[in-house]
Amino acid sequence: MKGITVKQPGGADMLQVTTHDIPNISANEILVKVETAAVNRTDIIQRETDLGYMTNNILGVEVAGTVEQIHEDTNTSLKVGDRIMGLVNGGAYAEYVSMPAERAITIPEELSFIDAAAIPEVFLTAYQTLFWIGQLKENETVLIHAGGSGVGTAAIQLAKQLVNATVITTAGSDEKLSFCKKLGADYLINYKKEDFSEQIASFTNNNGVDLILDFVGASYWEKNLASIAVDGRWVLIGILGGKNVPDIDLFELMKKRVQLTGTLLTPRSDSYKRDLTKDFSTDVLPLITNNKIHPVVDRVFALEDIKKAHEHMEVNINIGKIIIQVS
Ligand SMILES: NC(=O)c1ccc[n+]([C@@H]2O[C@H](COP(=O)([O-])OP(=O)(O)OC[C@H]3O[C@@H](n4cnc5c(N)ncnc54)[C@H](OP(=O)(O)O)[C@@H]3O)[C@@H](O)[C@H]2O)c1
Repeated sequence: MKGITVKQPGGADMLQVTTHDIPNISANEILVKVETAAVNRTDIIQRETDLGYMTNNILGVEVAGTVEQIHEDTNTSLKVGDRIMGLVNGGAYAEYVSMPAERAITIPEELSFIDAAAIPEVFLTAYQTLFWIGQLKENETVLIHAGGSGVGTAAIQLAKQLVNATVITTAGSDEKLSFCKKLGADYLINYKKEDFSEQIASFTNNNGVDLILDFVGASYWEKNLASIAVDGRWVLIGILGGKNVPDIDLFELMKKRVQLTGTLLTPRSDSYKRDLTKDFSTDVLPLITNNKIHPVVDRVFALEDIKKAHEHMEVNINIGKIIIQVS
């Protein structure tokens, strides 16, 4: 089968189409014939430098496709031919991939494989960080950075639909912000034109926000600290703006009693991802089926055009997900 690997750590030029054996499956696993996969920042970081926790040398962490084979020692209601989507332990940019059966989500009838591949990584991340970790509650205020990103577009919808939060979002263009408004965001800030901490002080009557979903890290440190409420939760899930903060005022963190949590989904255990998938399927899937929440697809690239797909993400122009059409 065809798969995408990295010649050596570096730019998008290092991506190559290579030939592999179809994966063997173990007990409790299924083999998936991949229809679509999607690009994630973690794939780009893994392309540039070995993350140390990906064992599969084929890139990609999420797929949509059909069940091709089920290991005989697997307790599952899935059948060969079922349409499923879900997180895989690497290997998504390929014609076939193995995955734990209990992590497969049945694709609602009304969704195409393209829409389905836009769901697992960003919706599970947004659900996990807003609710499991961030403990977002009914009518609280949440600041979602990079509102036009894959995770941002998912998080805005989840925060509105599940707990009717007041959503403040930042993005780098007015086009992205008007899209965020359509998804339900209440307050929009173009961080290239305005100081987001000043805007948030004015939107919240100087109280700050209850939760920050932070993809940016270092470059936003001080403004995030200024924008968070007393007893606020701050979930750090990306370092697009750098990882080293030169001058941290720990007293400010203490004074505001901030709970700061860092997290990465990809290296989490199979059992964690199984439980997350289960809660997501119960709480969110019905809202997708009922058209209340939508996967957001930016563009679709053929597997052979993987270099262009990575470059498209790296210039920061996508709104929502970049999909790879495999078959
Ligand atoms: N920790 C986890 O478990 C986990 C899981 C999934 C994703 N993530 C992280 O979540 C983030 C979003 O992922 P994604 O796949 O949704 O990304 P994406 O669709 O590629 O969107 C990222 C957006 O972030 C904005 N951005 C980039 N650099 C920035 C900077 N220096 N300052 C401010 N904004 C910047 C850009 O939009 P603008 O035009 O608005 O600048 C860019 O389009 C990534 O950092 C990713 O690594 C973490």
